[in-house]
Amino acid sequence: EAELYTVHKGVFVPTCLHPAQSLKYYEEFTFRSDDTVIVTYPKSGTTWMQEIVPLIMSGGDPAPVENIPNWDRVPWLEEHRACVLNLEERPSPRMFATHFHYNMMPPSFFEVKPKVIYVMRNPKDVFTSSFHYYGMTSFLVNPGTQTEFLQTFLDGKVMFGSWFDHVKGWLNAEDKERIMYISYEEMIMDLKDSVARMAQFLEKSLDAQVIEKIADRCVFKNMKQNKMSNYSQVPREFMDQTKSEFLRKGIAGDWKNQLTEAEVEHFDAVYKDRMKDVKYKFLWD
Ligand code: PPS
Repeated sequence: EAELYTVHKGVFVPTCLHPAQSLKYYEEFTFRSDDTVIVTYPKSGTTWMQEIVPLIMSGGDPAPVENIPNWDRVPWLEEHRACVLNLEERPSPRMFATHFHYNMMPPSFFEVKPKVIYVMRNPKDVFTSSFHYYGMTSFLVNPGTQTEFLQTFLDGKVMFGSWFDHVKGWLNAEDKERIMYISYEEMIMDLKDSVARMAQFLEKSLDAQVIEKIADRCVFKNMKQNKMSNYSQVPREFMDQTKSEFLRKGIAGDWKNQLTEAEVEHFDAVYKDRMKDVKYKFLWD
């Protein structure tokens, strides 16, 4: 199983999704200042943002999200597909996703300073979502028991490394004025307001009606029906959605159904220690 992963800039990445040539492509990638980059630790709301941001950019026109799969509409720059999508030729404004830590970003990112939306999610829910996801994919190391996987997760020995390092790195980023920070929980609490704030950050002035329409399309039960976003086109050998669906529950606080009391206690102790120097006020604290 060890060969499922490659170590890239200090973190594990699944090799089949991120072969050496893709990682090299990303390292040499040239951003434009009007690009938008959605940055997430895995299982924090990436797919959701791959729906919302294109709808904001299209002014509410659903054509892009109805016709283009999410991984092509807002491609991951580190993924194997990126180097064959001809991203250099795409007209502005381009939209990308990445799971990279701040200190893993390529030189052009720091020179050009594209816009970033950084989405954070309660790490206990990230853990819960990950545990189900690791159990249904063939390109990730078998999670083992829940208790084992909890330790693996807290130690950052999972794809894209430690949640703590990821969040701290991006919260400490320079040029904060080009970064919008938002959480999965804020989006659950008030999607319309979240969409409105994102539109404002992206300098798209949209009518209240359009914002409402976008938010309605993107609520979990509606988005789950979109074949271009629910991963139903991915072969079962790769992702077995009979084991766990990609758009699984879509709620905040599912960790309460997943973690034992002892696991919660352990998680909280590690969290408290690893986050003690962080001033950001999270909705889940
Ligand atoms: S990945 O693999 O990193 O791209 O995964 P990611 O998309 O970041 O995270 C998957 C979780 O996001 C949930 N999701 C949503 N929640 C609410 N509303 C909408 N529209 C939505 N779309 C995706 C998805 O269900 C996964 O969370 P869990 O807790 O497993 O349900």
